[in-house]
Amino acid sequence: MCFQMPEPKPSGDNPIVYVAMSADIIHPGHLNIIHTAARYGEVVVGVLTDEAIASYKRLPYMTFEQRSAVVENLKGVSRVVPQATLDYVENLRRLRPDFVVHGSDWKEGVQSETRSRVVEVLKEWGGRLVEPEYTPGISSTQLNKAIREVGTTPDIRRGRLKQLLDKKGFVRVLEAHSGLSALIVENSAVRSGDGRTAEFDAMWLSSLTDSTAKGKPDIECVDLTNRLHTVNDILEVTTKPIIYDGDSGGNVDQFRFTVRTLERLGVSMVIIEDKKGRKRNSLYVADNLQPQEEIEVMCEKIAVGKRARVTGDFMIAARCESLILGHGQEEALRRAGAYVEAGADAILIHSKSQSPDEVFAFCERYRESRELSLVPLIVVPSTYAQVTERELRDRGIRMVIYANQLLRSEYPAMLRVAESILKHERAREADEMIMPIRDILELV
Ligand code: SPV
Ligand code: MG
Repeated sequence: MCFQMPEPKPSGDNPIVYVAMSADIIHPGHLNIIHTAARYGEVVVGVLTDEAIASYKRLPYMTFEQRSAVVENLKGVSRVVPQATLDYVENLRRLRPDFVVHGSDWKEGVQSETRSRVVEVLKEWGGRLVEPEYTPGISSTQLNKAIREVGTTPDIRRGRLKQLLDKKGFVRVLEAHSGLSALIVENSAVRSGDGRTAEFDAMWLSSLTDSTAKGKPDIECVDLTNRLHTVNDILEVTTKPIIYDGDSGGNVDQFRFTVRTLERLGVSMVIIEDKKGRKRNSLYVADNLQPQEEIEVMCEKIAVGKRARVTGDFMIAARCESLILGHGQEEALRRAGAYVEAGADAILIHSKSQSPDEVFAFCERYRESRELSLVPLIVVPSTYAQVTERELRDRGIRMVIYANQLLRSEYPAMLRVAESILKHERAREADEMIMPIRDILELV
């Protein structure tokens, strides 16, 4: 081999060799690492916990327990320990291994920082780093891509949202209203300097954007059958969890069927709002606001929906409109408490204020209540878009829904192009505003 590796210790000693991995998809590259490690001593594998993986990329396909069971049974592995962070230091200080083994690929790029810390901490007791050459032709990234192309099943997709809420703590959701917009939610990723990949965790099937994309107002004139066409288009080309905007949910009898239908398709959550009568979008600044539903009626709907589910994975969230209607914090909290008691799996507190302050005030009271604080709180910062995810997280919010931004970006872009063609009586000038034909053909 063309690289320098330390000599294994003579037999007789029993050196500890530490290897860390997510081990979600085991491939020959992992086996090479473990076989190399086994030449140096007793191999202890630090399997990254679900939380550790979720902190920098997608949730793993298998749980920590499943991944650990696989690794424990690999030839050459002596035992498995959890690694709770991306950083090795805590485990290394505890185990004080004689060797750490990692593929040479981490010398450059986003993992080089983690490597430097390993090198530093090993110096504390004279441990050595062994870096076998990267196994060419195979990588978890390639395999992940292939798995995503195969798709998912309704059962797996449905259960992902609950796992994300449990393991990730904070879930980031973006609106989708078509197969194409859903592909943006599915595939957009931004890599930061510290090696984390920011992605959207799930999709919001907004009534506003689904209706608007069909050229209709958000007044429940696009019925469930039509909305399900959009859901199906999205299901066909994506794997991420779906949260369905159920408007008021209709009456209890209708809602029972809606729950069953969505659950069967693999949708993870339906959110129903406490409104009644003629549907009006909550963000309208008008005097003809839609009245709020009676608490008892809303609670019955939640309870009926919960009884209608077949799996424990499907969630029913209740959206409280008290702040939208100016009814105050007390009323909002009273309703949230009643909805949780009726079985709501999450509460969405909606606001159309230009500032996040009323939502923050609500969060504070919400967290003070033991029962409420256990139930995920969701927000939709459309009018107070200046708020950051960090501020929301710090206040205990567990899910942010960016409810309409993709559709709002689409319309002005299309309008600009249409006007350019009209103005110039040809399409040449519009070419600069649009993607090349080759790219669109290769996109899907
Ligand atoms: C939607 O996106 O359809 C919603 C959120 O229900 S809002 O438009 O703010 O009412
Ligand atoms: Mg809606």
